[in-house]
Amino acid sequence: MKLVQKDSKEIIWDQMSTSNRVKTGFPKLMLYLISFVCATYLIYTLKLLNTTPNATTSCDQQDFIFTSHNSLPNTTLQNPSPKSEKTQLKHIAFGIAASAKLWEKRQNYIRLWWNKEKQMKGIVWLDNPVKTHVSDSDNLPPVKISGDTSHFAYKNKQGHRSAIRISRIVSETLRIEGMEDVRWFVMGDDDTVFVTDNLVRVLNKYDHNQYWYIGSLSESHLQNIYFSYGMAYGGGGFAISYPLAKALEKMQDRCIQRYPGLYGSDDRMQACMAELGVPLTKEVGFHQYDVYGNLFGLLAAHPVTPLVSLHHLDVVEPIFPNVTRVEALKRLMQPMKIDSAGLIQQSICYDTLKGWTVSVSWGFAIQVFRGILSPREVEMPSRTFLNWYRRADYTAYAFNTRPVARNPCQKPFVFYMTKVRLNSTTNQTISEYARHRVPHPACKWKMIDPSNLDKVVVYKRPDPQLWDRSPRRNCCRVIESKRKGLVVDVGVCGDGEISEV
Ligand SMILES: *[C@@H]1O[C@H](CO)[C@@H](O)[C@H](O)[C@H]1NC(C)=O
Ligand SMILES: *[C@@H]1O[C@H](CO)[C@@H](O)[C@H](O)[C@H]1NC(C)=O
Ligand SMILES: *[C@@H]1O[C@H](CO)[C@@H](O)[C@H](O)[C@H]1NC(C)=O
Ligand SMILES: *[C@@H]1O[C@H](CO)[C@@H](O)[C@H](O)[C@H]1NC(C)=O
Repeated sequence: MKLVQKDSKEIIWDQMSTSNRVKTGFPKLMLYLISFVCATYLIYTLKLLNTTPNATTSCDQQDFIFTSHNSLPNTTLQNPSPKSEKTQLKHIAFGIAASAKLWEKRQNYIRLWWNKEKQMKGIVWLDNPVKTHVSDSDNLPPVKISGDTSHFAYKNKQGHRSAIRISRIVSETLRIEGMEDVRWFVMGDDDTVFVTDNLVRVLNKYDHNQYWYIGSLSESHLQNIYFSYGMAYGGGGFAISYPLAKALEKMQDRCIQRYPGLYGSDDRMQACMAELGVPLTKEVGFHQYDVYGNLFGLLAAHPVTPLVSLHHLDVVEPIFPNVTRVEALKRLMQPMKIDSAGLIQQSICYDTLKGWTVSVSWGFAIQVFRGILSPREVEMPSRTFLNWYRRADYTAYAFNTRPVARNPCQKPFVFYMTKVRLNSTTNQTISEYARHRVPHPACKWKMIDPSNLDKVVVYKRPDPQLWDRSPRRNCCRVIESKRKGLVVDVGVCGDGEISEV
């Protein structure tokens, strides 16, 4: 909100300064001249035509043309109130990097989030033609073949020269005819899933008339050292505002030629951004997910920011157990459709009677821990995953993590979401989470054992305005605690309500 306010102030200031310039910078003689020309024009039009509907507008137009030759900035003229309409999905053009070899399989990830009915714009860019034709009725973006890049030098021994082709997707998408009313270009891979409503929420924080390069880093500290801590990782997706894409398009081919030794497409992009002098604006809801194994720890303790993207879905295990990767993601799309703003947002509360800690990742999973764990511990992702070098090394990450359990008694009981629905009478979502039955180590603590629990039910109102407020975790309350199940309410924290026992 801070940004929006600042931007709108700037716009107001801009408009003021231009109108001042019009007043002070106009010699009186000029004004007389315009009036004279207009008056003459008016008289002639009136005389020549008996009908007069166009007379005044023509005069206005003349005035407009005249002033545009003066020192008024063009953007102000074309778009007098750029913040008047909020950014919507139709203002975003997606550029998806794909390859013919993996298209058959990867298109299923795109189908999950692409929605033809929502007027989405975008192109899938392939290296070679594919046999299976994408029909118009299919829920996929149109497919195009990237331009030839064989004349560009590529000198990285580890990488692949397709990096050049992929880097140029922004420019190639911008050059497509009929891409109208675009404010943002958003890049992603064929194995990236976007939560598009949240993407729109994030982009709305920024003025698309300015230069913006928005994305996120790798989870891997070493990747960030090898590549850059100032680079948007391509698989997690990143956004480039229209004017910046325009500026990039003018120089990108020359720029790419200057960096034949770089590895990928996203470091080439960052090299050009550095030449343009535009830094990365970090939005940590874009997820590159340079990890192996199970994303559970990361998804169960998401930062307090909207979930924008998920990547490397072929590399990690399915996010729900015992189903395929695509089926698992399809399940996540159900809560997304009902309350995208709240998707996988964490809340932490306690079953005080039984002495348990409850962590809700709405629409995804619940964890019940024996004993009281502080929020500062539970909001830290547990290391259910391996690093990008397939090791369980906690120094490898660019953020804090915690072991799955310090004490065997504290190994969490996990419940995965099975279904979600909206009760339109009460305007509440009801999501159900079933126990993930895995062996638990023996525990000698003399306290009620959560191992009898089968199910957790969570009530939550949809909250589309969640991110219009300053970031804050929702509060949860255990409203029913039975032998076999818990009922939890999640919502905006009440006055003075905090996560304490
Ligand atoms: C306005 O647009 C014209 C032509 O498109 C361009 O030559 C000129 O530099 C622009 N002026 C500003 C202030 O952007
Ligand atoms: C996994 O899925 C199969 C078939 O859908 C089912 O028979 C089996 O019980 C499931 N296993 C678990 C642990 O849920
Ligand atoms: C919605 O909630 C009301 C009030 O609790 C209840 O009477 C009704 O059966 C619920 N509807 C559905 C579809 O669950
Ligand atoms: C339900 O709640 C949401 C969020 O507060 C609100 O936007 C929506 O209009 C409500 N719908 C109904 C039917 O009350």
